[in-house]
Amino acid sequence: MNTAIEFRHVRKTYGDTVVIPDLNLKIETGEFVTIIGSSGCGKTTALKMINGLYEPTDGDILVNGENIKEKDMIMLRRGIGYAIQGSVLFPNMTVEQNISYVPSLLNKKDRKKTAQAVDKWMEMVGLDFSMKERYPSELSGGQQQRVGIARALAASPDILLMDEPFGAVDAITREQLQSEIKTIHQKTGITILFVTHDIEEALKLGTKVLVMDRGEIQQYGTPKELLQDPKTGFVERLVEKQRRMCFLPEGNLKDCEYCGAVCGSPKE
Ligand SMILES: Nc1ncnc2c1ncn2[C@@H]1O[C@H](COP(=O)(O)OP(=O)(O)OP(=O)(O)O)[C@@H](O)[C@H]1O
Ligand SMILES: [Mg+2]
Repeated sequence: MNTAIEFRHVRKTYGDTVVIPDLNLKIETGEFVTIIGSSGCGKTTALKMINGLYEPTDGDILVNGENIKEKDMIMLRRGIGYAIQGSVLFPNMTVEQNISYVPSLLNKKDRKKTAQAVDKWMEMVGLDFSMKERYPSELSGGQQQRVGIARALAASPDILLMDEPFGAVDAITREQLQSEIKTIHQKTGITILFVTHDIEEALKLGTKVLVMDRGEIQQYGTPKELLQDPKTGFVERLVEKQRRMCFLPEGNLKDCEYCGAVCGSPKE
């Protein structure tokens, strides 16, 4: 297995405040990593250091085996999609122009290829083609979120960073977006890092879950490992409720009617 992202002794401070003391982590290519932890523990900071929006105070970050210090930032960011909570769309561009922004830069001479990319990703995130000519202000919050994800994916990144992307949408839209992103991951095989505040979402979507507290890793493991073998008290408290549930094969958690105890595995 190849390593998509590696943190080597990464330290990040703001003035005298140490946000991340010494982060060491390897993320394999194709993994869907959900990141969960207390507010202010350094999740956004860690994500932004991967695409060079923040610089580590010390240590190294490798993307696809290359130290990002030695890479051209524009080239680095082209390979890394970034989707964040709320709308970050260009307000004066239509849906189609927003999604085609990066592909049209990359395929300057091939408009057909760009148009195909727009259609492909609009379909994948469940956006009706009739919305192409609309502006972001003419869309609902959930639709804007979908355009943001389609735009991040249209650049064909091999890594996608998502910072609480479904935080601002209602429960039904959230569930739809969750199953869409899961399908996209399965179809494309890209590496996804997804920050969430919701443990159920973290367990449901992640092939691996990264639990952080005060800039330190509490546990990095599969949902099943977290449920069956929480390594610290912090993780134990986090998954307390879910441990009384069954972990169904399709990734849904369900109240366990049978065992009522630590389960974390499919119930026959
Ligand atoms: N540019 C900055 N200057 C100074 N301090 C900062 C800056 N950005 C973040 N911080 C601080 O660093 C810490 C980590 O912030 P970060 O945004 O990474 O947290 P987070 O885990 O994403 O939190 P949340 O779950 O609330 O989004 C916080 O205490 C925050 O106040
Ligand atoms: Mg954050």
